[in-house]
Amino acid sequence: MRSPLTILVATMTGTAEMVAQEVQQVLEAQGAQVELRMMDGLDAGIFAGGGFFLVCTSTYGFGNVPDSAQELIDSLESSRPELSNVVYGVIALGDRTYGDTFCHGGTRFDELLSSLGARRAGEMLRHDASSGELPEEVAPAWALAWVRQTDGRGSAPEGPGAGEGPAQSSESDRARSE
Ligand SMILES: Cc1cc2nc3c(=O)[nH]c(=O)nc-3n(C[C@H](O)[C@H](O)[C@H](O)COP(=O)(O)O)c2cc1C
Repeated sequence: MRSPLTILVATMTGTAEMVAQEVQQVLEAQGAQVELRMMDGLDAGIFAGGGFFLVCTSTYGFGNVPDSAQELIDSLESSRPELSNVVYGVIALGDRTYGDTFCHGGTRFDELLSSLGARRAGEMLRHDASSGELPEEVAPAWALAWVRQTDGRGSAPEGPGAGEGPAQSSESDRARSE
């Protein structure tokens, strides 16, 4: 991976942070330059210089982002910066037992960033806590595939198949939905 990656983390009980740390470790082992930033206190300025970002967030309440992400969401919504120089991916942690709001924290970021002109590379990873699979095991494997499919440049490939992979759900999650 040639472009530095910033992982932005929002968590209530620490899972997303642990997942982000595992992802950082596995990508750094591949020679990537990875910075991990908790979202607490961040505003839209974090995206000002453009770049390559991975949002790692859980979902709470009725499909809300964790409290620590609210300031960043509010700032993006009020200032509505033009983010065409941003490429991003999303690791969304959730639980299917919450039904319609499954992984909506990640979806909220995805919709907001794309509405500001940022480009998502690949599909989101949606992790289902009720699947029995551990997110800290699923996410690093997903992240390796995700980075590979961006061709290590922090940009989504163009042309047929662009933005399709890697798989958006874990194995057990897919099996359940089939
Ligand atoms: C009070 C509460 C509300 C939750 N609400 C949702 C929800 O609406 N949708 C969802 O997909 N997951 C929901 N979850 C599941 C969490 O997002 C999931 O367990 C996640 O892995 C927690 O990650 P964290 O420790 O980083 O916050 C909720 C969990 C709790 C405890």
